Amino acid sequence: MKPMIAPSLLSANFADLRTDIEMINRSEADWLHLDIMDGVFVPNISFGFPVLKYVAELCEKPLDAHLMIVEPGKFIHEVQALGAMMMNVHYEACTHLHRTIQQIKEAGMKAGVTLNPATPVVMLEDIIGEVDMVLLMGVNPGFGGQKFIKHTLDKVRDLRELISRSASTALIEVDGGVNMETGKGLIEAGADILVAGNAVFKADNPINMIRFLKNL
Ligand code: DX5
Ligand code: ZN
Repeated sequence: MKPMIAPSLLSANFADLRTDIEMINRSEADWLHLDIMDGVFVPNISFGFPVLKYVAELCEKPLDAHLMIVEPGKFIHEVQALGAMMMNVHYEACTHLHRTIQQIKEAGMKAGVTLNPATPVVMLEDIIGEVDMVLLMGVNPGFGGQKFIKHTLDKVRDLRELISRSASTALIEVDGGVNMETGKGLIEAGADILVAGNAVFKADNPINMIRFLKNL
């Protein structure tokens, strides 16, 4: 099975988003990944809902929102208003993760839970049956262009095992440090979706790079 590819807008040219989004529309990308940061949960601030409103209007691909903020449950309505297909919240940012997941689904979106590199897959045992996707970070969240943490490969395998053992239908997405070198191992380990920021937007030919990653 070919992996799905979700280019991350974080590495796009923010002064010319229209050009980059139109490129994504023409490409074989499956989703557009949106990294929303607050400068508290992660040491960086990216873009917020006033910017994303215009991105959503231009983008023809399903939107995969990744909330790197404290208390993401407070922003379910804003993500829903964008028309997002998927809302990913961090395990580490949700005191009442079960409630937040239910509220995302009640808002008509698919619900994803995200794990930082230091959070083991075993923490998902009691929620795996409720989520549509698990997003495993391949780097510490906050910045594009970081080096892939190899242990993520073991986590993909652990998660694949947990999913089969729990009869869950959750998809596995990996985000951070994904490129031509690291992508193949991730697919072999069981990843369904690869997020790629720098690998796509800093490539000489982003459309070809998306096609290449899809055919790894
Ligand atoms: C990191 C973000 C990623 C980032 C990935 O905090 O969650 O989505 O854009 O960037 P690359 O692919 O360059 O590592
Ligand atoms: Zn992300």
